[in-house]
Amino acid sequence: MRGIKEAGALSEKIILNELKLNPCQACNTCYKTGNCMHKDDMPALLDKMEKSNLWVLGTPIYWWGPTAQFKIFLDRWYHPKHQSFKGKRVILVIPLGGGHERYARHTTGLLTDVLNYLSIELVETVLAPGFNRRGEVKNNGNLLKKAYNTGFGAIKEL
Ligand SMILES: Cc1cc2nc3c(=O)[nH]c(=O)nc-3n(C[C@H](O)[C@H](O)[C@H](O)COP(=O)(O)O)c2cc1C
Repeated sequence: MRGIKEAGALSEKIILNELKLNPCQACNTCYKTGNCMHKDDMPALLDKMEKSNLWVLGTPIYWWGPTAQFKIFLDRWYHPKHQSFKGKRVILVIPLGGGHERYARHTTGLLTDVLNYLSIELVETVLAPGFNRRGEVKNNGNLLKKAYNTGFGAIKEL
């Protein structure tokens, strides 16, 4: 996020856990009426996603997958608005307690396929294996530099 700001972009950090996001019910109301049957924070989030060029999507690994909060968010992309996602760019940021990147393979695989399906460009995946304690990653200069450069470079390339 600092790299993105210092490259001159306007940015906003959104914590999914602080939003009211209900799970998709596959009722297709959004396709019939243009509006989701849920009255929650997702419509405003979809508007923000539509207006921005680059999304940094972060989730820790929980049981080889993304968190429940992230999966609810992702399922809600099932909405006619996702047609406007074509050409968006994404950086994935994935911390995981396990010491090997392979524990993130289902999550990176899931997101690679979804992004590909929607013609969204995956700019870079920043994996942080072996981090269990909050803030511990701040001691890893190389990883922080990679994250900074990824954000900075993604804006400069726009
Ligand atoms: C419910 C739960 C499930 C987890 N499952 C995995 C797992 O399958 N593989 C793994 O490597 N780490 C697992 N972890 C560890 C988290 O990925 C790790 O603590 C992560 O760094 C948390 O990121 P955060 O500091 O941003 O919260 C799990 C943690 C929790 C709470």
